[in-house]
Amino acid sequence: MVMVGPEAPLVEGIRDFFMADDQLKDIPFIGPDKKGAVLEGSKDFSKQFMLKYGIPTAAYFTVTDKNLTEGLEYLRGMKAPYVIKADGLAAGKGVLITENLQEAEGILHEILGGKFGAAGSKVVLEEFLKGIEVSVFALTDGDSYVLLPEAKDYKRIGEGDTGLNTGGMGAISPVPFATPEFMQKVEDRVVKPTIEGLKAEGIDYRGFIFFGLMSDNGEPSVIEYNARMGDPETEVVMPRLKTDLYDLFEAAGKQELKNATTEFTNDTVVTVMLVSGGYPEAYENGKEITGFENLKEVTVFHAGTKLENGKVYTAGGRVIALTAHGKNKEEALAKSFKAAQTLQFEKKNFRSDIGFDL
Ligand code: AMP
Ligand code: GLY
Repeated sequence: MVMVGPEAPLVEGIRDFFMADDQLKDIPFIGPDKKGAVLEGSKDFSKQFMLKYGIPTAAYFTVTDKNLTEGLEYLRGMKAPYVIKADGLAAGKGVLITENLQEAEGILHEILGGKFGAAGSKVVLEEFLKGIEVSVFALTDGDSYVLLPEAKDYKRIGEGDTGLNTGGMGAISPVPFATPEFMQKVEDRVVKPTIEGLKAEGIDYRGFIFFGLMSDNGEPSVIEYNARMGDPETEVVMPRLKTDLYDLFEAAGKQELKNATTEFTNDTVVTVMLVSGGYPEAYENGKEITGFENLKEVTVFHAGTKLENGKVYTAGGRVIALTAHGKNKEEALAKSFKAAQTLQFEKKNFRSDIGFDL
């Protein structure tokens, strides 16, 4: 069985590669094909898709160097804050938000000028959505789907949700404001129309769909789709899953999700990400990480690490996620933060306010 984690190979067509090969095509494969992964691979596509299928999302305008004059006009007519997004993949860094119109124009020029390479040959200008974010995950076989527990990611580098966007500094599940009533709206207005829309587009989508949502007073709208699970959301969603994930994958592969059931713990699960000082901008690798032997009651997910001669070194911006369970948020967070203090490496950074806004 193959389950593809990151977006880049999906967008490049790894499923299509497997399906076109006689020896590989019968291997159960979880992850959409190139046509499906475009839901994440092109923000312009996903916005058009949402508009077409009546899925709530922010108003937008797509700019290229062919309609730059119109694009600037649109931007000048927008209300601050200005949301400016590279169309293609940019490792979670392609979204910039500013209050300042001049800065926004500068960003638009920079992205079109190649700041994110070809990913920025189109730029999506978007209305700013207010509210609080939550992520919802579906596994679909192209026909039916199952929902996994929701999670909230903390994307900004700084405490109190300040500073640059990162891939994610921590996560929590469940999310108290994602009440059954809210989740019903999400299913009716977002999940079902998305699955139906994919079918209508002739996209046989088999894999995860990650719905990045904004809740404004209990009304959901879509910020973005991802064609995969999230990181660090996975580190809090999967620990809550009691159902055997393999069985779900097998059912998804055989298009039998219609009969699948899922069960979750009611525990609160949190994860705190240790990152390299400087991330999401320049940082150094190769710092030795110590203290593993003193960790208690946490699961350690290695992300940007490297093992060399029995020692563990940093090898990336986001280094390690520390996941803990608790009867409530306080209990789970206490365990994760303790672990975050126990592990040591030079210039270690983490947010000590994960879950603060819930
Ligand atoms: P994305 O990669 O599209 O999920 O954007 C990254 C982050 O930027 C999101 O998680 C939000 O925090 C923020 N963001 C993106 N689009 C908007 C928007 N239209 N309004 C407000 N915040 C946004
Ligand atoms: N944590 C956000 C993502 O995986 O895209």
